[in-house]
Amino acid sequence: MPHRDRPILAALRAVPSIALAPYPTPIEEASRLRAALGGGPRLLVKRDDAIAFGFGGNKVRKLEMVATLAQAEGADLLVTTGGVQSNHCRVTAAVAARLGMRCLIVANGVPPARLSGNALLDSMYGAEVRYVATREDRAPAMEESASAWRAIGGRPFVIPLGASTPLGALGFARAVGEMVAQLPAPPDYIFHSTSSGGTQAGLLAGCRLHRIGTRVVGISADETEDGIRRTVGGILEGVGAMLGLDGAGFSASCAIEADDRFVGDGYGVPSDASREAQTLLASTEALIVDHTYTAKALAGMIGWIREERIDARATVLFWHTGGQVGIFAL
Ligand SMILES: Cc1ncc(COP(=O)(O)O)c(C=O)c1O
Repeated sequence: MPHRDRPILAALRAVPSIALAPYPTPIEEASRLRAALGGGPRLLVKRDDAIAFGFGGNKVRKLEMVATLAQAEGADLLVTTGGVQSNHCRVTAAVAARLGMRCLIVANGVPPARLSGNALLDSMYGAEVRYVATREDRAPAMEESASAWRAIGGRPFVIPLGASTPLGALGFARAVGEMVAQLPAPPDYIFHSTSSGGTQAGLLAGCRLHRIGTRVVGISADETEDGIRRTVGGILEGVGAMLGLDGAGFSASCAIEADDRFVGDGYGVPSDASREAQTLLASTEALIVDHTYTAKALAGMIGWIREERIDARATVLFWHTGGQVGIFAL
């Protein structure tokens, strides 16, 4: 580790955060999946699906950072947003319960006739849900709800979609340090699901700050490649600035790789490739990926391997970002 990077890593470690779960999450060899694919690169899985808080997944790492700020500001209500089956909303509800705060979720979609999956957990964690018709209605409804709470003397804290702020992304920049400490050598590739961009920005920042040459490939759950590059680039600017660097320069120094070919018919709609990937991983490694995010990311990784875009001598790490609760949605 070159000497000049150390103060930045120290700055990264110094950002206050609560640990809601024990770390590191395991890294497992996926040799049976590899064999089922006919060989090719070595495959590893980083098990953030197994984070032992709130049914796990990538949102825990981001919310550990963001909720700590909310707590420091004296918040008594977390307000956030997502779809009815949002993993992010479920984890926010769990965090609020654990920290003794209220939680208000602005969910776009139709109120379910029967609660299931993430929506059921939201209610068990004690969150209140306000339904809006479209994605565009979400931000104004969050602001309106926060103002109403403020007007009666409350202290709301608004968490944007996916907690994909520079602060949230720092949780993933730290996670790269966790991964580096677990492996004798960093992987050549990380594949993961990308959508609101915080996970990818954090992983890229972490690789840059730890000076490892790992390529981070975000497989889109919904957005176009250009859209993801713009969003992730913007978050990276904020990450750089938070760490006292030239934000634009830091962002420009990170190679943002996104692939939107595996979205299929749209957000949350299974594709033939995601169904195949889901079945293959479950039947070879007993690991579960969800239709909206992680099955498509896995389909993307498998696609790259089958297209022979990855050298057979490479090591590829699939960062499992969770979402398994989604398979129990009615
Ligand atoms: C299970 C899962 N994986 C991946 C993602 C994408 O992460 P991000 O929103 O940070 O791009 C999400 C978030 O929406 C998710 O719930």
